[in-house]
Amino acid sequence: MFDTSALLAVLRRAPVVPVLIIDRLEDAVPLGTALVKGGLPALEVTMRTPVALEAIKAMSAIPGGVVGAGTVLDRVQAKAAVEAGAKFLVSPGASPDLLDAAIELNVPLLPGVATPSEAMVAREKGYRVVKFFPAGPAGGPRYLQALASPLGEMAFCPTGGVSLDNARDYLKLKNVVCVGGSWVAPTDAIKAGDWAKIEQLAREAANIVG
Ligand code: 3PG
Repeated sequence: MFDTSALLAVLRRAPVVPVLIIDRLEDAVPLGTALVKGGLPALEVTMRTPVALEAIKAMSAIPGGVVGAGTVLDRVQAKAAVEAGAKFLVSPGASPDLLDAAIELNVPLLPGVATPSEAMVAREKGYRVVKFFPAGPAGGPRYLQALASPLGEMAFCPTGGVSLDNARDYLKLKNVVCVGGSWVAPTDAIKAGDWAKIEQLAREAANIVG
């Protein structure tokens, strides 16, 4: 069975987990450093670019940061991410094999769900905190609120379409632990090396109160 406590320890560190798409390896450390300095210590590096694993390795040295891998689709990617130093994993969905792999690898996994049935599959394996994805298109805060009573022991990290403008609507729900989002690390700011802007976006996000 999955033990949720290590995952919760990561997710409770700040209201927002930045979702990062890193194209250039040299951006990884300054980007992560800016986010941590701004108050967002948990960093999700998506496995969508060729440098993702190298970025995870490099960012693991950032003081005060906790680096995880996102967009983990299967057990091969899960193993590679853990070997690169990922301290937690995030996936857009919740295949039974991936749910099992995280238990076997003894790594915290935040699996994606969009329906009660998917949440129940994860719950059967011990998962109590899941990602609600894609949060906006799947129904937003009202949808999540409707799950609070029937799935009372489950908590969610909504991701997908979350922004500074609507994060509070999610964070005020009793079944939401944190939100995830890419708005704190916009592609143009990364390209421009505008780390001061990213630190400022992180600071705003870190101060959102639900
Ligand atoms: C993603 O998988 O890209 C994340 O859910 C981030 O979504 P966002 O770009 O809407 O924040």
